[in-house]
Amino acid sequence: MKTLHVELGQRSYPIYIGRKLLGREDLITSAISGTQVLIVSNETVAPLYLKETQTAFSKYECQSVILPDGEQYKNLQTLDMIFESLLSHHFDRHCTLVALGGGVVGDMTGFAAASYQRGVAFIQIPTTLLAQVDSSVGGKTGVNHALGKNMIGAFHQPRCVVIDTDTLDTLDDRQLSAGLAEVIKYGLIQKNEFSGWLEQHMHKLLIRDPDCIALAVETSCQCKADLVAADEKEAGIRALLNLGHTFGHAIETGMGYGNWLHGEAIAVGMLMAADLSMREGWLSTNDVKRVEDLIDRANLPTRAPASMNYAHFMELMAVDKKVRAGKINLVLYHALGNAFVTHEFDIHNLEQTIKAHRAINSDRE
Ligand SMILES: NC(=O)c1ccc[n+]([C@@H]2O[C@H](COP(=O)([O-])OP(=O)(O)OC[C@H]3O[C@@H](n4cnc5c(N)ncnc54)[C@H](O)[C@@H]3O)[C@@H](O)[C@H]2O)c1
Ligand SMILES: [Zn+2]
Repeated sequence: MKTLHVELGQRSYPIYIGRKLLGREDLITSAISGTQVLIVSNETVAPLYLKETQTAFSKYECQSVILPDGEQYKNLQTLDMIFESLLSHHFDRHCTLVALGGGVVGDMTGFAAASYQRGVAFIQIPTTLLAQVDSSVGGKTGVNHALGKNMIGAFHQPRCVVIDTDTLDTLDDRQLSAGLAEVIKYGLIQKNEFSGWLEQHMHKLLIRDPDCIALAVETSCQCKADLVAADEKEAGIRALLNLGHTFGHAIETGMGYGNWLHGEAIAVGMLMAADLSMREGWLSTNDVKRVEDLIDRANLPTRAPASMNYAHFMELMAVDKKVRAGKINLVLYHALGNAFVTHEFDIHNLEQTIKAHRAINSDRE
């Protein structure tokens, strides 16, 4: 097992990464406050891992609530199921919530923990690759609104993150690839040498070679932990993690939540950001090809949905949280492994990029 740390003063917390960690009581004890524990999972993950997870919490008054599965349920209505469970079991403000599942369960459980009785403790036990390398670390929590992705939420850090990489064995290939999109992101924003490693080991990641998966998860979590420690509330450098996300969120919202996976949408977004950076004169065509090849080799899409035209994109990108004073902030590249945030780009280039990446006909629609 490997232990990393998110350094946030009094709110610092460990990230445990390893195999067979689900039932490990020793890992969660110091993260628990009080005696009441609510495990939040969903109808897919609970049958697979709830029982094993419960053994770690057997000393506590442990309840569970099972949410419906899917991004389309990441909303205020489903969130209410968590509050209802907490209130009906008379949970007080010293209780602890545990998120057992992917990013959807993690974001909703975290937001419930942030707002129940003005804030209670929570633990992340992520079971998708995406959640293990990204959403479980850093304390961004929330739900979607019909008019915009992740628009209602709060910053609330977990007390610890327990990553059992064995849980990835039951994940389907499409979800594994979606998680790889966020792994690729870390190389593209900051770590060019990691991109090189990914280029060499992509085939092993796709067949879930345990050593390669462990290294990808560790490297990703370390990168995320460092960015979060440097800039918890995203006043500056943490925003690099939004590479591809303004484009991606537009696709997720535009296509209806759950139709395009988050990782798929941001994969195209990272490529569109590379294309725009090339049009601005920062990247070479060869750099863009490298990004495209890496995404393609991870079995991720390289074209946006055919049904989304330029106007539709612009309308959706304008409601993204990265818009300030009417200007769209994008994460672009000075070079591969050297991303930065800017609103200074030629809008005609953006138009060209969007038009150039629209699929002729997309089998994902
Ligand atoms: N908070 C953040 O910083 C942050 C960062 C990135 C993404 N996100 C959010 O995360 C969400 C996406 O997360 P996701 O990709 O994990 O999606 P998800 O939570 O929908 O999980 C994907 C699917 O895999 C299933 N699943 C989960 N674990 C499994 C396992 N071990 N075996 C078999 N099936 C399993 C789930 O039930 C679901 O059907 C989005 O809502 C996105 O906005 C948040
Ligand atoms: Zn993301």
